[in-house]
Amino acid sequence: MKAVSQFSQSRRLRALDLARFKAEGRKIIALTAYHAHTASILDAHCDFILVGDSLGMVMHGMESTLPVTLEMMIVHAQAVMRGTSRALVVVDLPFGSYEASPEQAFLNAARVIKETGAGAIKMEGGARFAETVAFLVQRGIPVMGHIGLTPQAVNTMGGFRVQGRSAEGERMLLEDAVAISRAGAFGIVMEGIVEPVARAIATSRDVTAPTIGIGASAHCDGQILVLEDMLGLSERMPKFVKSYGSLRAHIEEAVTAYAEEVRDGRFPAQEHTYQTMSD
Ligand code: KIV
Repeated sequence: MKAVSQFSQSRRLRALDLARFKAEGRKIIALTAYHAHTASILDAHCDFILVGDSLGMVMHGMESTLPVTLEMMIVHAQAVMRGTSRALVVVDLPFGSYEASPEQAFLNAARVIKETGAGAIKMEGGARFAETVAFLVQRGIPVMGHIGLTPQAVNTMGGFRVQGRSAEGERMLLEDAVAISRAGAFGIVMEGIVEPVARAIATSRDVTAPTIGIGASAHCDGQILVLEDMLGLSERMPKFVKSYGSLRAHIEEAVTAYAEEVRDGRFPAQEHTYQTMSD
């Protein structure tokens, strides 16, 4: 692990670099990470790493992201910061930590930035949170928006549902994207949005913030996936995930071999055993 202070940000990408990448027509690369060792592998390849509140489901076995606390986000973000030195680290504000008022959002976002050294926060929600986005940005906190399928709204959406399938849905999504872009968001995650609507948003002149797709087609300015999904570690895979690995099968195979070798005495072998004081 690199011995880099979590606060030495001089070589790190910053929130506003994403606008430059969009202007240059360079796709923005992002993945989630929740701990130091995986983050250290992603660091050279990703423009930003998201410490997503999906960690509640992926790491802690929760049924939704709703029980995730600010303290959990901070602990995981500190680990990701320790493992990285180049990528921008963006941290999700969890359910209940920002919705009550712009002041509540600022206090909790400031705590995340102070205690982790991360470069930005992400908040779910569209037009109704535009005022909060502007409030944070004006006070020095870069904000990434998140629209479409917003997992923290699972109970009001009636499940994890793809968005933009009706004319009204399309109108509202475009309104959401325009509102938070105008409020100063430096990027917008678009999750689970049908292709024609995603394209309309990503190519709209009124949406200047770079769009980052997850299940929102190739028209976005960049893409993000949950690391454990694309590595083939997760049990359930949504349609939009491409499997770039089969970690679950590899772990299963390795653990089975280990258990067998311990059981029949093949592990530890001589080479794993200390023989003398100088070993
Ligand atoms: O929490 C998360 O991992 C996210 C991504 C799915 C974008 O918000």
